[in-house]
Amino acid sequence: MVDDGFLVIDAGSGSVKSFLVNPRGVITRHVEISWDRETWTTQEGWPMIVNSIKRLELGSSEIHIHGVSVTSMREEFILVDEGDGEIQYSLSPESNSHGEMTLKRYGTLMYDASGHWPVPNWIAGAVLPWINKEHPELMRRTRSVLMLSDWVNYKLTGETFTDGTSACETALFDVMRNDWNWSIIDELNLPSTIFPEVIASSSRVGEITQRIAQTTGLPQGTPVFMGGADTQCGLLGMGVKDGEVTAVGGTTTPVQMITGSPIFDEKRRTWTNNHLIGNEWILESNAGYTGRAVRWAREEYGFIDYIHLNREAGLIPIGSNGVLSYLGCHIFDSGPKYWETDKLGDLPVPHTITGKDAPSRAEVARSVLESNSYAVRGNLEQLKEISGADFDYIKFCGGNSKSVLWMQIQADVLGVPVRIPEIRDGTAIGTAVLAAFGSGYYGSIDEAVSAMVRFRDAVLPDKKRHNEYSKQYHKWLETRKRISKL
Ligand SMILES: Nc1ncnc2c1ncn2[C@@H]1O[C@H](COP(=O)(O)OP(=O)(O)OP(=O)(O)O)[C@@H](O)[C@H]1O
Ligand SMILES: [Mg+2]
Repeated sequence: MVDDGFLVIDAGSGSVKSFLVNPRGVITRHVEISWDRETWTTQEGWPMIVNSIKRLELGSSEIHIHGVSVTSMREEFILVDEGDGEIQYSLSPESNSHGEMTLKRYGTLMYDASGHWPVPNWIAGAVLPWINKEHPELMRRTRSVLMLSDWVNYKLTGETFTDGTSACETALFDVMRNDWNWSIIDELNLPSTIFPEVIASSSRVGEITQRIAQTTGLPQGTPVFMGGADTQCGLLGMGVKDGEVTAVGGTTTPVQMITGSPIFDEKRRTWTNNHLIGNEWILESNAGYTGRAVRWAREEYGFIDYIHLNREAGLIPIGSNGVLSYLGCHIFDSGPKYWETDKLGDLPVPHTITGKDAPSRAEVARSVLESNSYAVRGNLEQLKEISGADFDYIKFCGGNSKSVLWMQIQADVLGVPVRIPEIRDGTAIGTAVLAAFGSGYYGSIDEAVSAMVRFRDAVLPDKKRHNEYSKQYHKWLETRKRISKL
């Protein structure tokens, strides 16, 4: 029997994952190789990506791949040269201070068009002007600036394209027009030729080259269709519609709502993103390093795996016996004021665990799950404040949603049902939806979503626990204010 489906490659913050997803939206093969975003490089990352594809063993005649789509963590970008190489450079205090100048001069202009700030030493809108000014020889060698998923597409096919969901993260984009912000690019004297053509998600990018076929085992000529940014793919993998609120809980937890027109926060705290679907936008208030804090707790306290972490945390009562943790989750403020101390967050809170001397590892584990859930609540309240919309449930996918305990805590903290898709890796399914439509397997995105996305029973909140958690949530907010460095 022929096993057919779509190959999805997800270059995430914590790992690269490759999946074979069948037309019913079931993951039939899956390989994951861990890495860490903070130390990620193209030289080490690419062999891992190749390896994850190779280990799916898709070369046999028993398998038919209708198409490939790629998704990735956002913001990361790569400069490719005229050959097949990547241009290397190191960020430094010098690049940071140049970025600060760009930010001061163009920050609000960029934000008001792209919905993103040019954060120094991170975002392309701040880094490219520095390279252009201080290292013109590198800029001369640059053929294209590619976001991470665009770069993977390029390595697979030799073609350079982008889409709005990835490109809007550069701060050099115009989310309203879904195209590069050419006037800012001109004003910064950046060469316009390095910015790849923007195509719609699901459009054909190219096909698997002979070289890639040899190294991965994929059939040469397999078509590759434009995917997009991982959170947007996650929303598609939950069939999210205008007005619904969501969380895609991975290494970080973007808390988002889809809107029929772009909404910009007057205080410029949130991000405004393009969506994969035309005429839809996303308002995002990101809860920060949630999953990463849980991974840290697992490693630091020697839990064998997440099953053990959840089991022990589940034995601790609500409120973790007074333990509160501040390990990277936050209430989003993407504005310039806060980057120096807390990268992105509304208060510069030192990483700390408070409330009890020598807490047990189970208390810490539970407090991390609770803090992450408080951060999601705080960010949802921020979305409500900005959009004026209300919600009576939340859709939640991603690695975080694999923990039954975490999702129950989340429902209890929010006081509304948490709806989790049958395949919790919504990003994999949403990316497969794009390949399914692009390849013509399904006639529309809606048709593909109906065939490939299903939900489990919702996790319901308990009223008594919600009341208890509301007290804890306010305590968590007050404590973070008290311990912040402001
Ligand atoms: N069973 C579990 N219990 C608790 N947490 C879990 C479990 N499984 C996964 N996680 C959490 O989910 C995180 C990984 O999620 P995921 O694989 O979606 O992230 P990612 O794709 O690497 O990151 P991102 O999407 O933010 O780029 C882990 O760091 C961990 O915190
Ligand atoms: Mg992910």
